[in-house]
Amino acid sequence: MEVKLIEQLKGRFVELYGGNAADIAVYHAPGRVNLIGEHIDYNGGYVFPAALTIGTALLFRRRTDDVLNMASEGFALTVQKSLSDLNYQAADDWSNFPKGVISLLNDEQAISSGFDMLFYGNIPNGSGLSSSASIEVLTAYAILDQENREIDRTQIALLAQQAENEYIGVKCGIMDQFAIAQGKKDHAVLLRCNDLNYDQVPFESGSYQLVIGNTNKRRELAHSAYNERRGQCEAAVEILRTEASGLENLKWLADLSEAQYSEVSHVLEDEVMQRRARHVVEENARVLRSVELLRQGNLEEFGKMMTLSHESLRDLYEVSCRELDVMVDTALQVPGVLGARMTGAGFGGCTVSLVHEDHVEEFIRIVGDTYNRETGLTGEFYVSKIGDGVRRVE
Ligand code: GLA
Repeated sequence: MEVKLIEQLKGRFVELYGGNAADIAVYHAPGRVNLIGEHIDYNGGYVFPAALTIGTALLFRRRTDDVLNMASEGFALTVQKSLSDLNYQAADDWSNFPKGVISLLNDEQAISSGFDMLFYGNIPNGSGLSSSASIEVLTAYAILDQENREIDRTQIALLAQQAENEYIGVKCGIMDQFAIAQGKKDHAVLLRCNDLNYDQVPFESGSYQLVIGNTNKRRELAHSAYNERRGQCEAAVEILRTEASGLENLKWLADLSEAQYSEVSHVLEDEVMQRRARHVVEENARVLRSVELLRQGNLEEFGKMMTLSHESLRDLYEVSCRELDVMVDTALQVPGVLGARMTGAGFGGCTVSLVHEDHVEEFIRIVGDTYNRETGLTGEFYVSKIGDGVRRVE
């Protein structure tokens, strides 16, 4: 975070809450981009996300009473609560994200006093770069640090996911929170979601850069469609477990190899369910292949895997949309592009492309123009750097 920005935010904090800037602690949590392994986390497979340098900052100061003050530079609503009144309330809007986490931590072990908080974020809202997971992980980290409790980054990710699942009511997997908690500069995180074993893999892309394209398409129906996909996968596991011979102990769809799945797919009968399951099994294998290719420095083949992932999400899992497809198709026609795909849950949000540094400007111009002409929407592009996971800045 830039020093100038931190100083500005401290000024704002003092305006809001009084006192002076000396005792304000500053924390930062990134957003995330998923490089490959989409809709796999809740199927117990491998994902390969990375933390971004954009994210959310939190300025934090302890109080002597049990009052919580929450303000954000991005929203007009300011909220005041006490530690004994942390129930979800729709009217509390954005502040339900930190509140959910505070409430869980307070249930675990009473938090010793209230605090003043000011959030600032530069992840575009609703873009699928995990602004909500960023706020949740950030809040958990700050409070554990302030309370001198143990900081276990995997536990933080799990707690943030629990807040999202139970308090906010979105049945997301663990990928976003994990990448935000465990991310490392210039590394992507290979995470096995059935046991949370992980490896930070250097993302050595030489003269290629990751370019994120925001479709600025509102993600309508995204939550219900997400939950529906999850349900279809869980139903597929249940059918395979009870009806396919030898799979009595199957727990996760991603536990199946491609060969195993080909042998048993007919048991599912329902053609839609077969396609969903095929995506999961093949995408999971693609993640491992991609990481191998990256380790060998074979970016060209890595890029192809990204594109295959998009095609599978579009045709088999059906979570893409016209806007994402137009952006990906156009990206793939620009010289110097090795691969492109949607990233995150889908139905809008962002794409990610691997683009040669000499072609980035051209990429942004061509994809931006064509996207605007074909959809009437204005896309936004960020050349993204891979940053660190959640941390205290000062
Ligand atoms: C959202 C969820 C993640 C993951 C992705 C799809 O980002 O929060 O848990 O399921 O969608 O890969």
